[in-house]
Amino acid sequence: MPIANVPDRHSPRLMSAAETTVGGAFALPPRTRVLLFGRAGQVGGALARRLAATCALTALDRSGCDLADPAAVRAAILAQRPDVVINAAAWTAVDRAEAEPEAAHRINAQAPGTMAAAAREIGALLVHYSTDYVFDGRKRTPWTEDDSPAPLGVYGRSKLAGERAVQQAGGAHLILRTSWVYGLTGHNFLRTMLRLAAERDELAVVDDQIGAPTWSEAIAQATVQAIGAWLAEPDRRAQREGLFHLSAAGQTSWCGFARAIFELAPDLPRRPRVRAIGTEQYPLPAPRPAWSVLDGSRLEAAFGIRMAGWREALQDCLDSAPRMR
Ligand SMILES: NC(=O)c1ccc[n+]([C@@H]2O[C@H](COP(=O)([O-])OP(=O)(O)OC[C@H]3O[C@@H](n4cnc5c(N)ncnc54)[C@H](OP(=O)(O)O)[C@@H]3O)[C@@H](O)[C@H]2O)c1
Repeated sequence: MPIANVPDRHSPRLMSAAETTVGGAFALPPRTRVLLFGRAGQVGGALARRLAATCALTALDRSGCDLADPAAVRAAILAQRPDVVINAAAWTAVDRAEAEPEAAHRINAQAPGTMAAAAREIGALLVHYSTDYVFDGRKRTPWTEDDSPAPLGVYGRSKLAGERAVQQAGGAHLILRTSWVYGLTGHNFLRTMLRLAAERDELAVVDDQIGAPTWSEAIAQATVQAIGAWLAEPDRRAQREGLFHLSAAGQTSWCGFARAIFELAPDLPRRPRVRAIGTEQYPLPAPRPAWSVLDGSRLEAAFGIRMAGWREALQDCLDSAPRMR
């Protein structure tokens, strides 16, 4: 019987033509110059689709700039001289990071530090993403930006070091911590479940890790809205810079997420039964926080952004499928 947990690797892929046609409800002023790293990723792809039609976007994937090369990262920023740098690239292979900590650190900590220094040099805003895995999962109320991080694994430590490198560079920045990212493209839990629905009658899924599945498109929309607000009102920037939690409202387990997918997804070949199991029944190299729900009130107070509930967003994501094909 298969068991499923957090997918470890986000596999490399190319953007399809259809992916570049989806528009966005929120747009930046057309003359805004944006440099995006990580355009082939889940969040990077969603951002590229939204921004390409509405502002002057340069979007790079690994072939356009390897984040393992600090000189290339710096040169890309200084050559473009954008108003906004967005870093949606990251080492997201949570388990593989345990065996390759230096490589994870180079991409998740050193590269954001290099970006932040270069962005400061040209007076650009840096937008960078981080993760709920900076927390140890011991709380049972939503984690705020003032809670002390204590990552359990290499990935979380590398992402926390990236946050600190961005902060220490001293330039204008937004660090957006998100969680359990999924979408209709890329390698993620939703797509794994949809694939397994074609193959299995029953799945066993971890039920004792609690968090908030967050749709990549919702992250992109909120990011564009936050950048737009930052650009529009220079005198309010002090409240609109720093660290913010950006994830769907509500909470569930991986098991609850799987059940919701099989309940809400249209046209499934079958709807597998989902059996709840404990983390100890599905051991993985990297430890995960048991409870990593993020409190979004700072984001709402600063930008007026209230994220939709995870289940409602999942429905929206599934409803958007025909437009993505
Ligand atoms: N995925 C999650 O569940 C999750 C949860 C919380 C926070 N986050 C954070 O959210 C952000 C976006 O995550 P995501 O899910 O969109 O990630 P993703 O789908 O795995 O995309 C990451 C992108 O980074 C690129 N990348 C990796 N190493 C690179 C390098 N050396 N040079 C250039 N590009 C490189 C990858 O390129 P290739 O395609 O060539 O490999 C990939 O396209 C990240 O900061 C991540 O840490 C993600």
